[in-house]
Amino acid sequence: MEKVLWNGKIVNKEDVRISIDDRAFHFGDGVYEVVRVYDGELYLADGHMKRLYDSARKIGIQLDMTPDDFLASLVELREATGLIDGTIYVQVSRGEWPRNHAFPDQSVAPQIVGFTKQAKRPLEQMKSGVKATIIEDTRWLHCDIKSISLLGNVLAKQKAVEAGCFESIQHRDGVVTEGSSTNVFIVKDATVYTHPANHLILNGITRQRIIELGRKEGINIREEAFTTDQLLQADEVFVAGTTVEIMPVIQVDDKKYSDQPGPVTLKLQSLLNEDISQLASVKH
Ligand code: PDD
Repeated sequence: MEKVLWNGKIVNKEDVRISIDDRAFHFGDGVYEVVRVYDGELYLADGHMKRLYDSARKIGIQLDMTPDDFLASLVELREATGLIDGTIYVQVSRGEWPRNHAFPDQSVAPQIVGFTKQAKRPLEQMKSGVKATIIEDTRWLHCDIKSISLLGNVLAKQKAVEAGCFESIQHRDGVVTEGSSTNVFIVKDATVYTHPANHLILNGITRQRIIELGRKEGINIREEAFTTDQLLQADEVFVAGTTVEIMPVIQVDDKKYSDQPGPVTLKLQSLLNEDISQLASVKH
C-alpha cells in the first residue's frame, strides 16, 4: 500500500481524508515544494526547506514545526516509501474552512500532504537537447512564491505540448522571465545570463546551485534580464529545474541553435553531475 505524509504522520494513501472545504480546493491557497532524491538522498534539501518556509511566510501561513523537523518528516516519508530515485512532493494548504476568500481563524491548522514518485533522470533528453516555444507570461506578479495556484503555468505547459515542445519560454513585454516549470538561461559570448531573482520568477534551487557551481569554476554568470531577441540570438540556451536538471534547448520556435548542446551548457551539466554524485558518495 502506498505510504504518504499527512499532517506529520506516515499513513496509507487510502486513509487520507481531506475535506472539500480545504482551501487548496477552493482557492489553490497553499504552497509546495518538489525535492529530488538521488540514490536515496535528498538533494539540496535545505534550500527547498528555506524556500517552503519563505513561501508560507509570504502568504501568511504559519508552520509550527521547525524546518529541520519538517525535513525529518520528508526523510521519514522517503524511508517509508523506499524511494531511491525520484521526487518528493510536499504541499501545505491554509487548511479547512467553509469557503470564504478571507483567511480563516488563526486556530485553523495548515494541511500538509506529501508523496513520493519514482523518476529516472531524463538523461536522453539532457544529451540530445529539446525544443521550446516562446509565449507571453500571463501569470500573476508573485512568481517568487511557490504557490499551488498553478493555472498560468499549466496553461503555459499545455501550449508547449501543443507546439510539440518540451517547454514554453515566457516573456513579459519582450523580456524573458522563465519557463512554465523551469528557469531559463542563455549563453552569449561565453557569458551566461538568467533573469534576476525577483517577483517575476521562482528562484529555482537548481538555478541557485548552477550559479554557485558555475561561478566557483570561473564561468561568468550574470543575473540579468534578456529579451526574446537576445534569446533568439544566443549561442546556447538551456532550462533548469529539480526534475529536468540542466536541459539543453537546441531549438526555440523556428530558430535552430545547433544539433547538440553547446560547450558551456555541457560544462555546467558536468558540474551539476559531479555535485549530485558527491551527494551519493557522502552516503556510502
Ligand atoms: N518546478 N520556475 C518554475 C515556475 C517552477 O515551477 C520550477 C520548478 C522552477 C525550477 O525550480 P527548482 O530548481 O527549485 O525546481 C522554476 C517544479 C519542479 C514543479 O512544479 O514540479
